[in-house]
Amino acid sequence: MDFDLTEEQRMIRDAAREFAQGVVAPGAAERDRTATFPIEQFRAAAAQGFAGMVIPSQYGGSALGNVALSLILIEINKACASTGVTLSVHNSLCSAPLVKFGTDEQKRRYLPKLASGEWLGAYSLSEAGCGSDAAALVCSARADGDSFVLEGTKLWVTSATHADFFIVFARTAKEAKKAQGISAFLVERTFPGFVVSKKEDKLGIRASSTCELVFDGCRVPAANVLGEVGRGFPIAMDTLDGGRIGIASQAIGIARAATDAAVRYAKERRQFDRPIAEFEAIQFKLADMNARTDAAELCVLRAAWLKDLGRPHGREAAVAKLLASETANFCAREAVQIHGGAGYLEDFPVERNMRDAKITEIYEGTTEIQKLVIARHVLA
Ligand code: CAA
Repeated sequence: MDFDLTEEQRMIRDAAREFAQGVVAPGAAERDRTATFPIEQFRAAAAQGFAGMVIPSQYGGSALGNVALSLILIEINKACASTGVTLSVHNSLCSAPLVKFGTDEQKRRYLPKLASGEWLGAYSLSEAGCGSDAAALVCSARADGDSFVLEGTKLWVTSATHADFFIVFARTAKEAKKAQGISAFLVERTFPGFVVSKKEDKLGIRASSTCELVFDGCRVPAANVLGEVGRGFPIAMDTLDGGRIGIASQAIGIARAATDAAVRYAKERRQFDRPIAEFEAIQFKLADMNARTDAAELCVLRAAWLKDLGRPHGREAAVAKLLASETANFCAREAVQIHGGAGYLEDFPVERNMRDAKITEIYEGTTEIQKLVIARHVLA
């Protein structure tokens, strides 16, 4: 067993850290306050090769893999969780399924644009009546000649204000059992009959956008079906196994950021004639934060490593997301507590960390869904 990063992974992590602190961190609080989408930060990340992490080099990707992607996401999320989720969804929910399930023609047409960051990618599964019960979706796709006509409304689509390309799940067979009869479609933003509608106003990751999509007779070429017609649900699930590693990485980044801020504050803040870092009450909090983050991070990197090896990683991804998201919330809460009243103000980053942490327990499968996935593996 070897817990060391390779030389290449260390270099990538260091480069990501420098990029995140130099380019992404400045303005992160202001973008959060004004709900300004981090499109410039996404393009700058793409220029570093971070938009094509899982895309083969023949399509212009950097093909550095999932462990490297996790390391990058941890660093970027330390600086800005909104930029972090934008990159996570682009790589793991949009590019990865296209690499795995796409035809040669689909890959040639779309992957170079995604790898270069010319196009931003998104993923659309959820609807008003379909959140945790993903197979309950009703948005429909009717075959008509050499295309499908999409009708319905999707919800909770990350990055939709700026995304150019969406993987959309819709029902192609009404009579089929729930999870069967769902297909995956590659939808360009400019397809007629497709509009990005209402943008949500959120508690955290406020610079990231989360929108409704409306399909009103949107014609999608049959050549843009991803995988087989009627076999979209397993693609959605397989993709989320990877996406959950990205969100778990995000949670580690938030946990580390909150801990770093708490350490800085504890060394500066004086009470009872000494820095509060000298009190055991504070030290025990910092120790717990550090230990829990380390344990969760090992689980995240294990899941990413298994995915890189092409081995099953669904349970491990769920374990990683469950533990990392709980850890992010624990660390952010404790960091606010260490800051006392100051932590409740916008002036310190831990307030944003606490708001951002919450979503990691909800999107790409709630904590309860991660437990359900893990329990199914345990009982199988
Ligand atoms: N990989 C591949 N295939 C899988 C799979 C996986 N991990 N899990 C299930 N499948 C397949 C099954 O083998 C089965 O295939 P067959 O039809 O061939 O038998 C099919 O999918 C149905 O499986 P289940 O019966 O297990 O499905 P289910 O209805 O019981 O659902 C669930 C399982 C785990 C609860 C699933 O619905 C789920 O993950 N729910 C949470 C959804 C979610 O995470 N949503 C987040 C959306 S994205 C987002 O958050 C926004 C964003 O942009 C960030």
